[in-house]
Amino acid sequence: MDDSTKIRNGYKLEDWARHYKESDLTWDIGEASPPLVRLWDEGKLKPGKVLIPGCGQGHEATFLAERRFDVVAVDYVPAALELAEKNLKEKNLTARLLGQSFFDLDSSHDGSYDWMFEQTFFCAIDTSDRTRYVQTAHRILKTGGVLVGLFYETGEEGGPPWNTTEENILEFFSEKFVVEDLNKTENSAERRRGREWLAWLRKK
Ligand SMILES: C[S@@+](CC[C@H](N)C(=O)[O-])C[C@H]1O[C@@H](n2cnc3c(N)ncnc32)[C@H](O)[C@@H]1O
Repeated sequence: MDDSTKIRNGYKLEDWARHYKESDLTWDIGEASPPLVRLWDEGKLKPGKVLIPGCGQGHEATFLAERRFDVVAVDYVPAALELAEKNLKEKNLTARLLGQSFFDLDSSHDGSYDWMFEQTFFCAIDTSDRTRYVQTAHRILKTGGVLVGLFYETGEEGGPPWNTTEENILEFFSEKFVVEDLNKTENSAERRRGREWLAWLRKK
């Protein structure tokens, strides 16, 4: 998958696994996403328990673990977690890395996270899974917990990445989350500039 790929069918585990096998990680910006870093620099993020779905090689996991967050990062491709583990180890950091589907998080996760951080995962899943995504995020967060999301408006048909508009975010999240902030962020990685929505969604 890269930003110009137009695939009509959804991606399955084996499709993502192939990208890792071929070291074809064109979505990977090589660092924690700049809008997350800015939120930290502005003092808006306080250390707590955070879940990162579809974490890939874990730039956000590393960034938050380094800042004393209790990080649980999920990706169902083992090779992704191997890379995440390597990145954490290089900095002498630890996080709980879970090799499973985000949608199958068991009930031990229910109501236990202060934060969830979304980056290039909502756009990676099939659009038919968006309701399940919202339900899972709502289930695992504490009441009042916050989903900080970077949602990718590709402006294109097909996917992944699947286009995510402001209307989509409001449509899917408003029932279970208070949309406290939703803005096009200006400091995305160069290739996504002007096309990412930064959302601050508090669990109702
Ligand atoms: C586009 S990549 C983004 C990775 C990372 N967030 C980043 O921005 O570098 C999407 C990731 O989600 C993972 N993924 C897709 N569906 C998943 C699911 N249902 N549960 C867990 N991980 C999943 C893929 O293996 C892949 O690593």
